[in-house]
Amino acid sequence: MTEIELWSKASEAEAPRLTEIRRHLHQHPELGFEEFETSKLVIRELESLEMDVHTGYAKGTGVVAILRGTAPGADAKDARAVALRADMDGLPILEESGLPYASKVSGKMHACGHDGHTTTLLGAAKVLSKNRARLKGTVVFCFQPAEENGGGGRYMVEEGALENPKCSAAFALHGIPSLPLGHVGVKSGPSHAASDGFRILIRGRGGHGAAPHMTIDPIVLGARVVEALQSVVSREVNPLESAVVTIGAIHAGVARNVIPDTLEMLGTIRSLKDDVRRKVQAAVKRTAEGICLAGGATADVEIRDGYPVMVNDPAAAKFVLDVARESLGGEKVREIAAPTMGGEDFGYFLQKVPGAMFRLGVATRENYPSLHNPGFDFSDAAIPVGVALFCRIAERYLRDGLLS
Ligand code: NI
Repeated sequence: MTEIELWSKASEAEAPRLTEIRRHLHQHPELGFEEFETSKLVIRELESLEMDVHTGYAKGTGVVAILRGTAPGADAKDARAVALRADMDGLPILEESGLPYASKVSGKMHACGHDGHTTTLLGAAKVLSKNRARLKGTVVFCFQPAEENGGGGRYMVEEGALENPKCSAAFALHGIPSLPLGHVGVKSGPSHAASDGFRILIRGRGGHGAAPHMTIDPIVLGARVVEALQSVVSREVNPLESAVVTIGAIHAGVARNVIPDTLEMLGTIRSLKDDVRRKVQAAVKRTAEGICLAGGATADVEIRDGYPVMVNDPAAAKFVLDVARESLGGEKVREIAAPTMGGEDFGYFLQKVPGAMFRLGVATRENYPSLHNPGFDFSDAAIPVGVALFCRIAERYLRDGLLS
């Protein structure tokens, strides 16, 4: 049996149990930092595998499990350690998939497939623990909370998930409905955008809707600000670079004949490079403040740095592509050309160590529901594919590093 057959058979053998776990998680989604039952399930499964399990990361629900290989050289001073990461949180979305194992929690669902990511990493832990004699180093399994909102990954990294043992690379996967089931894509270099949040509070002076000259109308100024912000990307960012400014919410006023005192606006800034990020942040602030000043109002502009750009190390991306092509055949594996302006907090891991996230196709038909859609479901058949890839990535990296 070849090495590829070994990992794929071992992964397929776990598939029935992993499908049960995945559907259980799907029925019981929990939001960021509240993954208490998910975390308990993960701990229970890991504790049966004879590895060191550390709990309580990232405000409580994060879990790190350490599997020490027993291949010759695994305990040498220069033996490597590699991190494999999954996220565990669901989203505040009412599921409309109609599936027999749909969410039992009204208003919460695994619409980003993190149930599949958690299950796949548990599968890799099971298969690798049974094959520890093949591992020339240590595998660190990181189960993190709050990827969607809250940056659980940042806490994991700050609390030392990659430090003891010291990992020299990290890998993760994300299920994706734009690729057919079991296909793999990797973007080399910047893969996901930095995502920053902002809040603009315009303070005018309220009054009677029939006497606007006695007021400073924050609604008219707010409309100007929204309109002017559309020119930040088109006029201030180099046309060969990428950025997004989106206003997602506006709150002001209660009655048709009353001009309110204030208007609040919430938005997001996306970018792929630090200089673009700082330039857009400054332009949003300057534009809002300047327009409000011209109108006699003031604008309080708060911009909060969110997730960093997620950059797949080019050597690590090539390594994953090579491993995936050997396992699945070239026709199922592609290098993705364009990054997404979506955010991903695995970027915190990749600020610390080189590594890559690969995308694993889950689409079983045309027009498969997109991520964050109330009809989305992580296909169970993708799980053993992801498990076998995680296993081969770990085995190969511990043996040869990123060389391939
Ligand atoms: Ni996600």
